[in-house]
Amino acid sequence: MGAYQIIGGRPLEGAVQIHGAKNSVLPVLAATIVGGGEYTIHNCPEISDVDTALDILRVLGCTAERDGARVCVDTSAAENREIPEELMKKMRAAILFLGALLARFGTATISAPGGCVLGERPINLHLLGLRLMGADYEYDRETLRCRASTLRGCTVALPFPSVGATENLILAALACEGEVTICNAAKEPEIADLIGFLRACGAKIAGTGTSVLQIVGGAALHGTEYGVMPDRMEAATYLAAAAATRGRLVLQGANPAHLQAVIEILERGGCEIAQQQDEIIVRCDRLRAVSPIVTAPYDGFPTDAQAPVMAAMATAEGVSVFEETIFSDRFRHVPALRAMGARIYATERHAVVTGVRRLHGASVEATDLRGGAAMVIAALSAEGESRITKTEHMERGYASFAQALRSCGAQIESI
Ligand code: EPU
Repeated sequence: MGAYQIIGGRPLEGAVQIHGAKNSVLPVLAATIVGGGEYTIHNCPEISDVDTALDILRVLGCTAERDGARVCVDTSAAENREIPEELMKKMRAAILFLGALLARFGTATISAPGGCVLGERPINLHLLGLRLMGADYEYDRETLRCRASTLRGCTVALPFPSVGATENLILAALACEGEVTICNAAKEPEIADLIGFLRACGAKIAGTGTSVLQIVGGAALHGTEYGVMPDRMEAATYLAAAAATRGRLVLQGANPAHLQAVIEILERGGCEIAQQQDEIIVRCDRLRAVSPIVTAPYDGFPTDAQAPVMAAMATAEGVSVFEETIFSDRFRHVPALRAMGARIYATERHAVVTGVRRLHGASVEATDLRGGAAMVIAALSAEGESRITKTEHMERGYASFAQALRSCGAQIESI
């Protein structure tokens, strides 16, 4: 079990390189199964979730090699094997192999995916769409067996714009006879990135960036070379860290267009943020509270930024109210922030944060990826020493986290 030892109280100052997006590269790696072929993916972050995706590809009989930020995959010889439960349990995005295997082989057997515990994370919307395409399934909450003699074109109207369901349905639709229309599709930039990759492989998909996607099934897919977009949640985390520590950071390689909802909240809180095409410069004195901060599907305020921004608001001047509308249990970081002196009152969906002048160090345990990042941010802004255990949560999604923070003046050690 890893831990970070942090001595807080220093403003972060310097430049951070934003890596490729975790939530883009994972669907892209699953998608390499659909057509078979050789793929080179650039800008792959060195995080454990990518290692898990590569392990899944190897279990399926593919070759998968990493050379720094470049990953080469050959899925030509993929076989339709069951993905071991221990790999499925490591991350939520493992569910995307369902759509990919179904498209390639017409059947898929997988166990329930893991990932951060954020409340109920059902897959009913994934299954609803697959059934409309003609797939049958048996799901006993442990093992999902899915098969389709033919997948057919149809219209799927999602009751909620689920990111994972949209991605899984796009992948399955690639093998449909006819056209699939997904209405109320998720509009997150990572979906557009997946579509960009699939189009580079020869897929015919219209509606990128909108809530109505049209996929023409049956196009011949081939291998390709593709660079994934920068990680907007990594960037949001560093923006929050700069705000919390009253520092100045240059985020190199970030795309500000993807971060408007977060930038708007921080600017309203008094941060000065300069946006260039692929760079964001943030500078902040003591934040002012902003309220309400309501999470929503893109282009609303992202649920993944809720915990990091809450850590920053813990020392803002005034009271901010957070409303979490996406996940039912995404305030699991609150007890740790309170242990550091934050004044937060939380119910299931709302958190009221009364800013204090300073937090103090404490020993806490990371609960999930973004919650753990929030604890790191709080510890960086706090007086004294903190110890944050279970850093494997952060290693799932932040490449060289401690190293990047150290290069900007943070006193943080991985132990
Ligand atoms: N939902 C259903 N039924 C479904 C699917 C989703 O009810 O079939 C509900 C979920 O329970 C949740 C809401 O819909 O309450 C949103 O879930 P969604 O499917 O949109 O999220 P996801 O695909 O499981 C992805 C990201 C998350 C991010 C969310 C929301 C990946 C691998 N994960 O999860 O990222 O928070 O979208 O934007 O892309 C993270 O990176 O830390 C992370 C958790």
